[in-house]
Amino acid sequence: MAYPVSPAIIGIQPPPITEVKGWLAAMPSSPDRPLIDLCQAVPDYPPASELLAEMGRALQSADISRYTPDEGLASVRESVSAWYGRRYGAAPKADEMILTIGASQAFWLAMTTLCRAGDEVIVQAPAYFDHPMALAAFGVKPVFAPFVPERQGLPDPVELERLITPRTRALLLVTPSNPTGAVLPPVMVRQLFELAQRHNLALILDETYNAFVEGAPHTLFSDPAWRDSFVHIASFGKTFALTGFRAGALIAGEKLIREALKIQDSMAVCQPRLTQLAVQYGCDHLDPWVAGQSAMMARRSDQFNRAFRHPELRFSLAASGSFFAWVQHPWLHLDSRQAARRLVEARLICLPGAAFGPGLDSYLRLAIGNISEEQIPAVIERLLIA
Ligand SMILES: Cc1ncc(COP(=O)(O)O)c(C=O)c1O
Repeated sequence: MAYPVSPAIIGIQPPPITEVKGWLAAMPSSPDRPLIDLCQAVPDYPPASELLAEMGRALQSADISRYTPDEGLASVRESVSAWYGRRYGAAPKADEMILTIGASQAFWLAMTTLCRAGDEVIVQAPAYFDHPMALAAFGVKPVFAPFVPERQGLPDPVELERLITPRTRALLLVTPSNPTGAVLPPVMVRQLFELAQRHNLALILDETYNAFVEGAPHTLFSDPAWRDSFVHIASFGKTFALTGFRAGALIAGEKLIREALKIQDSMAVCQPRLTQLAVQYGCDHLDPWVAGQSAMMARRSDQFNRAFRHPELRFSLAASGSFFAWVQHPWLHLDSRQAARRLVEARLICLPGAAFGPGLDSYLRLAIGNISEEQIPAVIERLLIA
């Protein structure tokens, strides 16, 4: 008998990065033209050496391989809370968070706790592809707010409100956005929070890249009412360059956290202890290192934007930020998968716009966080020859 795979899963798009790497694997290699990989949003630098040294020491401790409480060690959550106090000017308490297996698992915890099959979640397009993929797996319908080029990736709160139905459970946004890099201004975050409150919805912000914006990302944590409507998804994987150690957190009011812990216990039990200790070290000691990396990423993005003004380039930059450039390709007769395949032939891999929602076939996402400043001219050269 064949496996009875759920039709809900069969209907989900393949993981986009795997799909693109599959195209690459099927092509002959080209030794004289090294591959430029703009597929995945990973900091191109290693973690701070003192963080790695601390992890080495932690590996020697007798209890390093043991479970921790489901929500994570209390002392680690205290350190995370203090980090938020410095970054946001106000902090969630240690018992208002669960340490998770990356931001990805925090998202699953949030959605399984808030939604059931048949519900709707309003998602700003272009959307981080894993979000609609996960929603489809739960039978939750992503309702896309369309990308409006003039808004350069920022949502229109009036449009979001228009999409609310009796089945809507949440507004879901990513700031800074993956894939556009757009950063929601704090006043707009406040506006979206009030919109969610008025309609009894959750406002879910995936703030995976929150260490890469200047100043406090928003002021919601200073309003005690955040605990009824706001859900924050964090990834210390990007902050401390620990992506493979799966360092995320779900932050929400205690009532939601208590419910989400039921899922955490049955899904993952806990974030690995070694990851927790790494996050704690980062939160306690690495503010200057994080600020330095963030400034370097901003410089790289500026440099990329300048290089993109090349007079012969037929691609146009629709939006950009520290980690991403969201570009329009020049080939009207090609959809975004065909356009991305054409770039594979020029030995540059990136993601097709269609992976980020409907109506985005004229776009591509370039993950510029993946490359060093020295590689930027080579990216432009590949776009010119494609
Ligand atoms: C917006 C967004 N959310 C979540 C994730 C996943 O983060 P993590 O590696 O912490 O699971 C990513 C990774 O690229 C991302 O871009």
